[in-house]
Amino acid sequence: MVKSINRQINREMYSGCFYMAMAAYAENTGFKGVANWSIVQMKEEFAHAQKFYEYVNEQGGKVVLEEIEAPPLDMPYMRRGQGKVREDGERL
Ligand SMILES: [Fe+2]
Repeated sequence: MVKSINRQINREMYSGCFYMAMAAYAENTGFKGVANWSIVQMKEEFAHAQKFYEYVNEQGGKVVLEEIEAPPLDMPYMRRGQGKVREDGERL
């Protein structure tokens, strides 16, 4: 059971990192709104990880953190807006 929860902690951390990567990508491509939304999601995922962390400790288990997979650098699904106008008015 603890092994499964530890694995879930890793998944939540990965999700948080993924949203952070999304935020960085959006920030660098001029989509401030998407960047802000992604940061909110990132915090939520890290909060999930913390809840599992606290639960394992409260139950007397041992939290074991594993390596977190790096999120992708390129996010082609976020380029669907190409050809449209960015928030600052510049055409992509
Ligand atoms: Fe989550």
